[in-house]
Amino acid sequence: MSQVNVGLCGLGTVGTGVVKLLKDHADEIKYKVGSEINIKKILVHNLEKERDVAIEREWLTSEPSELVDHPEIDIIIEVMGGIEDTNLLLERAIQNKKHIVTANKDLMAVHGQKLLRLAKENDCDIFYDASVAGGIPIIRSLTDGLASDRIQKIMGIVNGTTNYILTKMTDEELAYEPVLKEAQALGFAEADPTSDVDGLDAARKMTLLANLSFKMEIDLDDVEVTGIRNISQEDITFATSLGYTIKLIGIASIHHGKAEVSVEPTLLPKDHPLALVKNEYNAVYVHGEAVGETMFYGPGAGSMPTATAVVSDLMEAVKNSRLGISGTGYVTPQFEKQLKEDNE
Ligand code: NAP
Ligand code: HSE
Repeated sequence: MSQVNVGLCGLGTVGTGVVKLLKDHADEIKYKVGSEINIKKILVHNLEKERDVAIEREWLTSEPSELVDHPEIDIIIEVMGGIEDTNLLLERAIQNKKHIVTANKDLMAVHGQKLLRLAKENDCDIFYDASVAGGIPIIRSLTDGLASDRIQKIMGIVNGTTNYILTKMTDEELAYEPVLKEAQALGFAEADPTSDVDGLDAARKMTLLANLSFKMEIDLDDVEVTGIRNISQEDITFATSLGYTIKLIGIASIHHGKAEVSVEPTLLPKDHPLALVKNEYNAVYVHGEAVGETMFYGPGAGSMPTATAVVSDLMEAVKNSRLGISGTGYVTPQFEKQLKEDNE
């Protein structure tokens, strides 16, 4: 591909960042992938809405088939959210031999294995690094940088919204509700922020990391999840008086082939490295059998950090296509076995 055409689904917080980055870093991107990347179409809900980024008006459509069935579009970037309708849209795109880049952890936690399998069958790839920990390349690190190791444990802060709320409640003694509103206005929270504050967003992300690391298919229903909704200012003041900080911590570990995943508010000594992770920042410890302990830190939500992950994935998709590499997504042996049983 000397010229690559992209269909962008969604022009909200992340989609706007993607358009800005593709424009502002166009020279570096072209130099690194050896192709020019063009936006062909953008799928949105509301065609009349004012946009925060300069776009060609004719790019906009509210008709999904103008992207997924478009013969000249090579890659679909999905940054619109949603699960079932979005799954159907991406299935169709894959059947039409388009590679996918997505930031959608909800979708990947529920339908990821099926989509990766379908992509393999169609010689396509799905890149989803932006779906966990925003600008931190954690999925890429697990699939590439640490690929030779056996991962035994992953622990950390993987939700920016709740970390932002807990930070403001602790450091500035602000009340929960207005800080949640602030996190929404800053574009950190999900369209429905209950998945942030009740821990489901973090549970989905930890499940994705665990599945990838332990090569299993962990059921979301088996994840112990408690959010931060019931943490009061009194709890925080009491923890502080004892020298502790409250953080929403996800843990995924494997012992003798049995995986456990949990997400819970946790008391950490105030000088613990995770206690020092503030605002929307995320941090993830990864413990591998050979490498020992590594730690990843960076902005876990927001427009430009997440766009960086999306566009880096897009560049990987373009490079793979140039090299004729496709169908590289990891489908777990458990999923393959289940599929075989279902087909018998
Ligand atoms: P957002 O600001 O709410 O933007 C969603 C965009 O998708 C909007 O442009 C909306 O159109 C469009 N859209 C939604 N449903 C649609 C539909 N059915 N048909 C056509 N267009 C539709 O969301 P976001 O914060 O950018 O998040 C997008 C995705 O990235 C989500 O999966 C989220 O979990 C994930 N993510 C977000 C962040 C973050 O920091 N925000 C970080 C990592 C991952 P209109 O503009 O016309 O309303
Ligand atoms: N709502 C998510 C968060 C966005 O706050 O972490 C990034 O995935």
